[in-house]
Order: sequence, then C-alpha cells, then structure tokens
Amino acid sequence: MSADGSSINTLHRTQSSPAIENAIDRSAPTFTAALEKDETSYFDTNPPPPELEEFSRIAEEFVNLHCSHQRRVVLVTSGGTTVPLENQTVRFIDNFSAGTRGATSAEYFLEAGYAVIFLHRQFSLLPYSRHYSHSTNCFLDFLTEAPTDGNSRNTIVARDEYAAEMISVLRKYNHAKREKLLLLLPFTTITSYLFLLRALAVKMEPLGSKSLFYLAAAVSDFFVPRERMAEHKIQSGEFAEKDGEMEFVNPTGPGSGKKLIIDLDPVPKFLKRLVESWAPQSMIVSFKLETDSKLLIKKCNMALKRYSHHLVIGNLLQTRKSEVVFVDQKSSHWLRLPPQNTEGEKNSGGKFAAKYEPEIEALIVPEVVRRHGALIWNVVAATRSS
Ligand code: PMT
Repeated sequence: MSADGSSINTLHRTQSSPAIENAIDRSAPTFTAALEKDETSYFDTNPPPPELEEFSRIAEEFVNLHCSHQRRVVLVTSGGTTVPLENQTVRFIDNFSAGTRGATSAEYFLEAGYAVIFLHRQFSLLPYSRHYSHSTNCFLDFLTEAPTDGNSRNTIVARDEYAAEMISVLRKYNHAKREKLLLLLPFTTITSYLFLLRALAVKMEPLGSKSLFYLAAAVSDFFVPRERMAEHKIQSGEFAEKDGEMEFVNPTGPGSGKKLIIDLDPVPKFLKRLVESWAPQSMIVSFKLETDSKLLIKKCNMALKRYSHHLVIGNLLQTRKSEVVFVDQKSSHWLRLPPQNTEGEKNSGGKFAAKYEPEIEALIVPEVVRRHGALIWNVVAATRSS
C-alpha cells in the first residue's frame, strides 16, 4: 500500500466494502493549500513528538552559531514519513524513499559552504556514512586485517582499493563535525515531521534570506487522525470467552467476509503555511515526484501556482537518479547526467560500482546554490535602495 493513497480506501466510513473504483472519494474537493485554521486544527489535535523541545533548542543553538558567522543554512528534509495505524504502533504505512536524494544533496551543500540541518527519517541514509551503509555490500567488505609482526595487536585497515576514497569521505565528515556544520535530526511519522518542520522554520527566522528549504522528503498525503486511531494492535478477529477460555470468533480468512478497511484523511498541504507564515524570507525549493512523464511539468507548475514558492524540482520515479527538471515561475529546464561511460564502470571494479557512479545531485545543488545567491543579492539590493 502506498502512502500517496493510490491504493487506499478513503472516506467511506459507513461502507464496509467499497468497490475499488470508489476507494478514493472523487467527490471530495481536490486538495487545497492549508490555511491558518487547518494548521491550528492539525497541530492542536495531533500529539507533538516527545523530542520537539530538545530538537528546537539544539536547532536554535545551531542557527545562532552560523548566524554569527554570516553563513547560509539549508534545511534538507529526507526520506519517507510513516503513517501509524495504531497509537501503540505495530503497523504503519510507509513509502519507498531511502533518503538518497537528501543525504547526497546534504554533502554537496556542505561542500558549497552551507551549514546543514538534516531532518531525516530515522535509519534512512545519512550524509557521508551513506557510502558504506544500506549498500548491497556489507561495510566489513571494505576492511581487512593489517599484517602483524607477531608482537603488535591486531589492527583493521581499509582495503587498498577503497582507502583513497574512504580517506576523502572521512576528511569531509570530520571537517563537518569539527566545524559543527551538520545537524542530524530524525523523525519517523508524518506528524513528527510536520511538527519539526514548523518548529525548525521558526528557529531559522533570524537567518532571513540566508536560509534555504530543500524539501526532498517523501511526505505522506494521507494519515489516520488521532481521534480515529486504534490504541492497541488491530486484531485480525474478535475474541469471546467460552468455557473460561478466550476464543476467536469470526476469524478472518478466505470466505470469512472480514476485511481491514483503512479510513485515511488528507494531510493538510502545509507548504503554503511554510511559504507565507513559517519562513516568509527564506528560499523554498520543493520536489515533485510523479510516475507519468506526461504529468510531471504540469504538476510542478500547479505546485508553484498553489504554494507560490521559488522552485519545484520535478523527478520521475524511474529516472530520478539521472535527470530532474527545474520549474520556476518563468520556465522549465532539465538537468541530466551524461550517458554512462561503460569503461568507467568497468574501472570501478563492478562489485562496488555504486560509489563511483556520477550523481545528479552534483548538478542539482550548485544550480540551487546559484539561485539562492541571486535571491540573497536581490534582497540586499532592495534593502539598500529602500
Ligand atoms: O529518497 P530517494 O529514494 O532518493 O527519492 C527521492 C525522492 C523521489 C523522494 C525525492 O526526489 C522527491 O521527489 N521528494 C518529494 C516526494 C513528494 O512528497 O512528492 P509529492 O508530489 O507527493 O509532494 C510534493 C510536495 O508537496 C513536497 O515538497 C511536499 O513537501 C509537499 N507536500 C506533500 C504532502 C503534503 N501533505 N503536504 C505538502 O506540503
């Protein structure tokens, strides 16, 4: 089941088994941007994550530090948000995102001199460590035992063929840590993500136009509101007491007629609130994911019109690692990786080819940085002339 609702039964509370064609309520108005009242209602009725205060405090310190250095700060959101089905959560709806776009982009922003707040799905890919985690190869494959002379203790080192690349990654990682340039903040659920996004946006306010929002997370479109969420694990049948023992009655199974119908509400489109109220001075870049190429640019333009932000980066699920389209109020412009060099692939040794592949983020991030620079320049020029 996908969190974008494509195969989800919605808004049919009274109907126990809606026909598939009615699973999404087509009579409901198309999603509109969230208004202030939607914000109040959502944040008043859903519980904040326990870490909200602590993360807000840490983010405030981070922002103050980089404000004092006149540094630009980007908030990169990354990975998928979950939709819990139970309050004491056993089951949840998730989506495909591994956080590759966000983690890779964060590295290029650091290289461009930005400080990065990395708001990411817990256990998704992280900047720098992504080179050695979640891969099809175990990180232990990168290591080997160093020869010993019999007296010294056993030592592990990087294997020769990976050492140069690992040292380069390690140095960048250490630099980011030493200079406090990277703040890692995890979320899991859609609600935590939204609470944190709002809190961080407010904390970034002192940065003015030097702040950038790069929204690469895959945000769920549907969720179970708190008041309708089951407290405990949803049971697959009903229990009854018989002869002093608990027994299943009405068990599910082929022919039993029992189904689990999940009734989801749309998540308010808070991008509008971000643009208008939470971070009005910042540059805001959102991503738009589609699977139908005919729809992509149209949907990017719709998002721009609806939210009035600066830039939408469109990508197709199938080709997202090799091409994206930049859509702004004036035009659309494709960025593409050059066709794969098969010689280069061979040289990488095949087995660990992934880390040698060219990355589309190496094209995306410098272009975003250039546009952010132009926006800051315009703000400075406008302030001088007023
Ligand atoms: O992590 P990877 O595997 O590398 O994949 C990267 C990616 C494909 C996930 C990434 O490049 C991407 O496209 N991210 C955006 C996915 C997404 O949420 O697309 P969308 O079309 O559903 O939403 C578009 C925009 O609306 C997003 O910026 C989102 O912040 C915003 N939104 C979405 C839902 C919602 N309820 N409110 C919103 O404001």
